[in-house]
Amino acid sequence: MAPSVSVKLGGATLLAASALAASPSSYGYGHNSTTASPTPTITSDASYSSTTFNASAASTYLPLTDFSNEQLAFLWDQVGSISTAAIHTTVSPTPEPSVYPKPGYLHPLVPAYISEVESAKLPEDFLWGVASAALQVEGAVDAEGKGPSVWDFIPHRWVNSIADNSTADVAANQYYLYKQDNARLKALGIPAYSFTISWPRVIPFGKGPVNERGIAHYDDVFANMEANGIKSVVTLFHWDTPLALFNSYGAWTSRDIVADYVRYAKLIIERYDKYVTVWYTFNEPQYCNWRFSNYPYGTLLPSYNGIGNGGLKAEFLCGHYTLLAHAEVYQWYKNVYKGTKPMSFKNSANWILPNSTSAADAEAVTRVNDFNMGWFGGPWTDGDYPASLRSTLGDLLPTFTQAEKDMIKGSADFYALDGYTANVAAAPPNGIAACAANASDPNYPTCAVTATTYADGFPIGPNSDPGATWLWSTPGGIRPYLSFIANKYFPKVASKGIVVSEFGFSDPYESSFDTLAQILWDLRRADYMQGYLDNILAARALDGVNITGIFAWAIYDNFEWNSGLSTKFGLQYVNLTSQERHPKASMFQFLNWFKLHGLDSTATANITAPIGHKRM
Ligand code: BGC
Repeated sequence: MAPSVSVKLGGATLLAASALAASPSSYGYGHNSTTASPTPTITSDASYSSTTFNASAASTYLPLTDFSNEQLAFLWDQVGSISTAAIHTTVSPTPEPSVYPKPGYLHPLVPAYISEVESAKLPEDFLWGVASAALQVEGAVDAEGKGPSVWDFIPHRWVNSIADNSTADVAANQYYLYKQDNARLKALGIPAYSFTISWPRVIPFGKGPVNERGIAHYDDVFANMEANGIKSVVTLFHWDTPLALFNSYGAWTSRDIVADYVRYAKLIIERYDKYVTVWYTFNEPQYCNWRFSNYPYGTLLPSYNGIGNGGLKAEFLCGHYTLLAHAEVYQWYKNVYKGTKPMSFKNSANWILPNSTSAADAEAVTRVNDFNMGWFGGPWTDGDYPASLRSTLGDLLPTFTQAEKDMIKGSADFYALDGYTANVAAAPPNGIAACAANASDPNYPTCAVTATTYADGFPIGPNSDPGATWLWSTPGGIRPYLSFIANKYFPKVASKGIVVSEFGFSDPYESSFDTLAQILWDLRRADYMQGYLDNILAARALDGVNITGIFAWAIYDNFEWNSGLSTKFGLQYVNLTSQERHPKASMFQFLNWFKLHGLDSTATANITAPIGHKRM
């Protein structure tokens, strides 16, 4: 995903303000309504007392202590009516084809970008595969005792906040189709799958009792992956915050979330560590935690902790508690549980080019990096925030005690980069210093202006779908960026390794194609794959950066947050009616690249397709 300085939501963000203003009467449940009620008539019966109610004078929250079925039903009532998939029991896999339909010589795969790496090989233990996230693929959102997350709530209750008004209720229905999906991964020769666990599926209220059926589901997912020989790369949290924790204390704006997250994380780790190859505590805290900077929930739900409508206070509190939660889990895992698997978290960050050779633009680049990667850089530095954040944000940035800094420092075994694109940064016209001193400045606090065109006005690359306007195909950025992280920004991490934990592309207007023939030859995504993979390999083989893994986003088309189901990121197409999956050309581009550069014996012949000028 894009750095937090650029807006990921496309048109959806712009719709938000008016949707929110218009929305209270359409939620249909009591405590959000701002409609004036008639003055109540108080009966004169002596057994009644009366008072003056004023919800906005609330100063504290009510503890979450009721974990009954009724309370769960209340939470789902808060979300609204949920759609159920046609397939709603776990499906046994049907046999995979021995050879998949794939690109032929009339339009071969995209040829190599970098000839110097054409014969470079990856080591046997190089970890690669495809990625997804629970909310985006699972569907079955209210099945088998699951509680709602904020991302079940938002599409249903935040009017027009999803560009195509879709929900994640069914998505790709992975909850019931995982056996078929795993069989497909195996048949394609994909050695690892990076997926996430849904916190409210296993602990429906975020705290309190564990949902036995949710656990039984993931037990079977892990067992099935192991049976198929697929390595599990697991993220504990990918933005699906339990709604009950929002209701109760404002979720990531309260320190209470730390203990609840840690408890959840320990449950999952203790149960599944034996299956897992790599642990990630968090997905992209830079979007904290999708997303407190505009704290929509503060408008839809009561906003605690003095947050009001959100903004910087919410964003930096969220970051703070996320870092504490991450570090506590890491230290427990290594020092108490004595876990041996590598653990980190995934960072959303991108290569930033200066708009000119001026010192001011160079400083703008540094500030974008500080406010993005640096914000969560404590594990690779001294455990604290960068000085530029502290001097600009003052009291808006919470402080760590020395003990907390010591806990954060060193709390990640490698750097995980979700590096999708690039940006150009310039100093603002009124200068960085004036901006940094004025919290009302439109560019505060980063005080850099980012663009997706070079100084001459030409775009930095081919653009993506209108639902992902932040995303430009810029393969030339990832190679210098990886060197920059390893050698300049976080040198301590260089020897430990860098995993490109997500990268991917959304072909423009793909959802408007209505035949498989149009959909399957996804040229921009295939080109993106080849360009990024070659540049990542060049960083490793030619520039000496210790890249230890690569994961493509996404296993298949899914629910793309505020852009909904119609912005497609899949290497496989998903027919949303039949739920059939079809590998696109980009999948073959990806697999053929690993066949050429990997030593992995699992890359099978049934995926081989002609590449560029090399006639089969
Ligand atoms: C996120 C995914 C998202 C993808 C494309 C990544 O940063 O982790 O959840 O779908 O970007 O926007």
